[in-house]
Amino acid sequence: MQPSAARNNETGEFAAPIGSLAGDVRYYLTLSPRQLPSRYLYDPLGSALFEAICELPWYRITKAERGLLAAHGREILARADPLSTLVELGPGSGEKLAALVTAAGARARPLTIHLVDVSGAALDHAGRTIAALDAGNLRLVPHQATYERGLLEAMAVRSRAGHALALFLGSNIGNFDPPGAAAFLVGTRAALAEGDSLLIGTDLVKPERELLLAYDDPLGVTGAFNRNLLVRINRELDGDFDVDAFRHCARWNAEESRVEMHLVAVRAQRIRIPGAALEVAFEQGDTIWTESSYKFKPDAVVDMLDRAGFRRVDQWIDDAAGFALTLARAV
Ligand code: AVI
Repeated sequence: MQPSAARNNETGEFAAPIGSLAGDVRYYLTLSPRQLPSRYLYDPLGSALFEAICELPWYRITKAERGLLAAHGREILARADPLSTLVELGPGSGEKLAALVTAAGARARPLTIHLVDVSGAALDHAGRTIAALDAGNLRLVPHQATYERGLLEAMAVRSRAGHALALFLGSNIGNFDPPGAAAFLVGTRAALAEGDSLLIGTDLVKPERELLLAYDDPLGVTGAFNRNLLVRINRELDGDFDVDAFRHCARWNAEESRVEMHLVAVRAQRIRIPGAALEVAFEQGDTIWTESSYKFKPDAVVDMLDRAGFRRVDQWIDDAAGFALTLARAV
């Protein structure tokens, strides 16, 4: 299924193959509005820029989530007990998982931790972070795969002796459009067994000024993260984007409850991308929509989980940052 033209960005189809950069650039840059899937923001430089974003004072998701995991980690793991399998979808540097495991303290029962990411570099990084913990009784299994495929792989080898807990943190769910998020959660539920749990991190709706500062920071790091997509297309597909001819723009779309990132053409131009067999013309002010970051109300998270076959166990909220961690059980 292809996403409809007005629906950036990630569709969250369970176990669907991901397209190639060339095929996706050719398809998405000819849609109206023009767009590119946000997953392509994460080449090595993009991933490093994203890690820098997480350290910015204006981007509070990572720090708020780490704080909640450190404060409630013991309780979270206890509520998911008896636990034998933990699967983190998109572990990044592994620091959130480390906060959770550390807060829970030394374990008597063995725990197998599956790390799932399409990036081998991210898996290595997260693996080193977890291996450095003195938590005992942990076994690490990396899966270089999409979230969906990796979860299915992890569940295929799971121990039946205890429950599984899947982690989907960092408000990554916010980068799916609503039908995509629903499909992703239904697929996650189907991969889990009754009694297993899902811990999901979601950024909450907050004042527009705060949201725009988080996605258009005064240091320009988020702008570099966004414009790096053009650098990537030039490098990998021999494109001729003049990176200076596009500016970063973050918009709050209140009706859809999402922050959108766009690249705006500062002048009329014609771009050639031979690696995607594409030529595309821009008028001044035309945009490429590169990411949607949906923001939630706490109850809406519970409802969304409910519709996918999960029941709320507990929810922890950082009110100052506007961020929620929700633990739900597969029923
Ligand atoms: C990874 N994801 C949840 C981030 C977000 O907030 O949507 C990516 C990001 N985009 C701009 N800043 C951070």
